[in-house]
Amino acid sequence: MYKAYAPASAANLSVGFDLLGAALKPIDGSLLGDEIVISANDTKGCDVSVTGRFAHKLPTDPKQNIVYQAYLMYKDALEKEGKTALDVHMELSKNLPVCSGLGSSAASVVAAVVALDAIHDNALGEKKIVELMGALEGRISGSIHYDNVAPCYYGGLQLIVEEKGIISTTLPDFDNWYWVSCFPGIKVSTSAARQILPTSYDRKNTITFGRHLATFVHACHTGDDKLAASVLTDVIAEPYRASLIPGFSEAREYGSSIGALATGISGSGSSVFSIFEDLEKANLMKDYLEKNFIANEDGFCHVCKVDRRGAYAQVID
Ligand code: HSE
Repeated sequence: MYKAYAPASAANLSVGFDLLGAALKPIDGSLLGDEIVISANDTKGCDVSVTGRFAHKLPTDPKQNIVYQAYLMYKDALEKEGKTALDVHMELSKNLPVCSGLGSSAASVVAAVVALDAIHDNALGEKKIVELMGALEGRISGSIHYDNVAPCYYGGLQLIVEEKGIISTTLPDFDNWYWVSCFPGIKVSTSAARQILPTSYDRKNTITFGRHLATFVHACHTGDDKLAASVLTDVIAEPYRASLIPGFSEAREYGSSIGALATGISGSGSSVFSIFEDLEKANLMKDYLEKNFIANEDGFCHVCKVDRRGAYAQVID
């Protein structure tokens, strides 16, 4: 029997639409990710049960659960290699809210595939499981993009490459950055948030996007946190998506007034992230967001660091 963990992640990070993402872990040690316990089973195929704070937000038919879809695709991939899949039970602890901008579906997919490969003695291996995770995530959001799956699986700050067989590469992140991550409790579907974006961009914005992303990557490699922070401005998605998130503009203004290095939309929203060098200010931002940005009892806020470990599976009794 194995338990797999897959952390929350923030995609885009303002400068890297579909191309950047960071795995996050709360500094107070609380859990911000999905877990799967997998065991061999007598029933044929795969049965799925769901627990956790956000279990009630998932489809009631277990066969509609992405974890079940993960089993079918994993089994298919194994069979293509002439191997046979075990019959399994998977218990998903759904701790991340769906449609939240925290990489919730990626976390379920990554935890499921990591758990499946663990119980099959890593029969598929890293490259194939990451491709499988991307394909599963693509089924949910309508197109394959690795900006949640890659940080969730590998941990750290990931730049999506998708060239020469490399899916993503780890960028050095900044030790002194605290990431305040807040989910207001409002659902924003990724496919809906993609539909409102323009289908093409003008030359000015295209050049600004390229300049910001290139400068950010350069600053990560040279350890220049001030330069990295200075380009965390979104010209691709935020101008069109901000209106989907009540209180976002005010939150960014407040962040800026207390010295946030940047505040932006986490993935396609509705969560926001805000970066600080100073823990006291990060906590002030957390207080502000809890009082003014969270709209209902589903919302929450954490002060986080980058989770450099990513997803893992361990044997349990
Ligand atoms: N990058 C995606 C988007 C979300 O902003 O639409 C996360 O995969």
